[in-house]
Amino acid sequence: MSTDHASSEASLDVLLTPADLRAGLETDARAGLSATPKWLPPKYFYDDRGSKLFEDITRLPEYYQTRTEHAILVASSDSIAEVADAEALLELGSGSSEKTRMLLNAMTRSGGLSAYVPVDVSAGALEDAMTGLRRDYPDLDLHGAVADFDHHLDQLPAPGRRLIALLGGTLGNYPPEQRRVFLANLAAAMRPGETFLLGIDLVKDPSRLMTAYDDAAGVTAEFNRNVITVLNRELDGDLDPGDFEHIALWDAENEWIEMRLRARRPISACLSALDLKVTFDEGEQLRTEISAKFRRERIEPELVAAGLHPERWWTDPAGDFALLLARR
Ligand code: SAH
Ligand code: TRP
Repeated sequence: MSTDHASSEASLDVLLTPADLRAGLETDARAGLSATPKWLPPKYFYDDRGSKLFEDITRLPEYYQTRTEHAILVASSDSIAEVADAEALLELGSGSSEKTRMLLNAMTRSGGLSAYVPVDVSAGALEDAMTGLRRDYPDLDLHGAVADFDHHLDQLPAPGRRLIALLGGTLGNYPPEQRRVFLANLAAAMRPGETFLLGIDLVKDPSRLMTAYDDAAGVTAEFNRNVITVLNRELDGDLDPGDFEHIALWDAENEWIEMRLRARRPISACLSALDLKVTFDEGEQLRTEISAKFRRERIEPELVAAGLHPERWWTDPAGDFALLLARR
């Protein structure tokens, strides 16, 4: 995508091609589906259908996170913009970029914003978001990147001093060791003075957490099972998504929600593209995602260990969700 405009530009870099994504899925599916217990990394949820299902999740009555983070941004974007003092906003896992508009507005008001760089593995979600942003922010430079933040952090555009945002609780989808590596790589890719805005879900009553990941309408179940549809399509598989039941459970020791798919009956299937036979015993579970919940006293030392120094913390009145700003 490249569009001429009197004073601004739009571009879309592809650092991750569909072939790269598929090669990653081949490796991860071969390893994860042959392991005990079976697992798959979360980035494969987000094909076009998965990204749309996630947008539906954000509007569910049970899923308070998006609404709460949005409310914090409405109340605090001006102070975030002031503390960050950035020239560009780069967002990792930007999805629909909807909440981000609060930040774009505040950074524009404070006068310093020259570019927005949305970054996502989901090319479809990114293109849709950019179409709307192009229309509504005609004066802003837009440099989208289809990229994997597990691989491309040091190759992302830096059109000026950046505020780098990771919203939606996405950091919580990493297990602890991968989270440590991600934060270290992020800090290494940042220049001194650049800032990191992190949106995290906080520890709370487990029953509220459980319903947020197991909604009455079954949208989260559909989203979880979508990864089976992705496996079938990308790796020429014959799994039946209907054979899997969605499970969300609270791990009290680790303080994370774990999403799984549980085989309703014994399954014997094949991923032809991998020449891989996949079997499940009845009741066997595939781990598809964790969503860690945080406490301030636990996340701040992790940021410091990575070389990112927390400066401010914003939360909603109930203390359900937090945004924090740290500086490299
Ligand atoms: N920021 C949005 C979307 C959160 S959902 C919000 O707060 O509502 C997580 C987003 O991260 C999805 O759009 C998904 O496609 C993207 N994503 C997941 N893993 C990724 C990875 N490894 N690299 C880049 N984007 C990723
Ligand atoms: N980052 C979101 C979260 O942890 C992603 C998410 C929401 C999710 N609902 C989900 C991931 C259901 C897997 C299944 O809340």
